[in-house]
Amino acid sequence: MIAGTVVGATAVYLWQHKPKRVETAVRPPFSQQYGPWAIVTGAARKEGIGYGFARHLAGRHLNLVLVDVLEEELAARAAELRQKYHVKVETVTLDLGKPDFLPALQAVADKLEIGLLVCNHMFTPKETLPILQMDLDTHHAMLDINARAYTTLMHGYGRQMVAQNHGGIIIVSSQAGLRGTPYTGAYSANKAFQMVLGESLWYELRNTNVDMLVLAPGLTNTQGDALADYPQIMLMEVDPVVTEATGWVGQKTSGHPRPGQ
Ligand SMILES: NC(=O)c1ccc[n+]([C@@H]2O[C@H](COP(=O)([O-])OP(=O)(O)OC[C@H]3O[C@@H](n4cnc5c(N)ncnc54)[C@H](OP(=O)(O)O)[C@@H]3O)[C@@H](O)[C@H]2O)c1
Repeated sequence: MIAGTVVGATAVYLWQHKPKRVETAVRPPFSQQYGPWAIVTGAARKEGIGYGFARHLAGRHLNLVLVDVLEEELAARAAELRQKYHVKVETVTLDLGKPDFLPALQAVADKLEIGLLVCNHMFTPKETLPILQMDLDTHHAMLDINARAYTTLMHGYGRQMVAQNHGGIIIVSSQAGLRGTPYTGAYSANKAFQMVLGESLWYELRNTNVDMLVLAPGLTNTQGDALADYPQIMLMEVDPVVTEATGWVGQKTSGHPRPGQ
C-alpha cells in the first residue's frame, strides 16, 4: 500500500516536473519537421476527419500515404488531392484489423521518408450495444482495429522517426475515452486505450525530436444526416478540428477541440 502510494506520488511528481526538450530558437518549418511524407489511416470517406487531415497536410506540401479498407473511395480521394494540391499520393487498401497488416503498408512506405503518422481509422459496429449484449467476436474485432493496429503503427513508425531524428504522431482518440460511457462502452474503452498509450509515449519521447499529440474531439460533423437529431451547437466541423490539431502538435500532449473555437 505504502509502496504503491510512493510510486504513484513519484510518477505525478515526475509528470509535473518533466524535463523539457531543449527547444531550438526557431522551430523547423512544418514540412521539414513532419514531411516529406505523412501516413493517414481511415482517410477514404469524403466527410471524415482522416480526409480532412489529408487535405490540410497536402495544403502544407506534404506527400501522402492514405490507408483505408474502402478501396474505391480511397482512390477517389487520392485523385482529388493530386489534382487540387499537386502532391504525391500513394494509397494502401488494408484491413487494419488483420494482425499481419504491416508488411503490406511497409511495401509502399519503406521507400518513403515518413515524417508524420495520423492514426485516425476506427471500427464501430452499426448498432452499438450494451457490453454484454455485443458478441465477443465484435469486441475482439474492435480491439484488433482500434487498439492493436494503433499500437503496431505507433511502435513501427515511432521507432523509425526517432532513428531519423524528426517526425510526429497524431492519435485521433475521442472525448468518449475520458471516462466510462455506458451503452458505447467498447468504443469508449478503445478510445481510452489510444489516449493513454499516446500520452505515455508523449512523455517517453520528450527528449527526442519526435512530437506526439493525442487529439480528443467531441461530436464532429462526419456522419451526414445520422447526426441531424443532435443539437447542432454541439457539432464541430472537420476543418477547424484538423487545423487545431496540426497547430497543437509539438506544443501540447493532448488537445480537446470545442465547438465555436
Ligand atoms: N465523428 C465524430 O464525432 C468523432 C468524435 C470523436 C472522435 N472521432 C474519431 O475520429 C476518427 C475519424 O472518425 P470519422 O467520424 O471521421 O469516421 P470515418 O470517416 O468513418 O473514418 C473511419 C475510417 O476508418 C475506416 N476503417 C474502419 N475499419 C477499418 C479497418 N479494419 N481497416 C482500415 N480502415 C478501417 C472506415 O471504413 P468503414 O466506413 O468501412 O468502416 C472509415 O473509412 C475516429 O477515430 C473516430 O473515433 C470521431
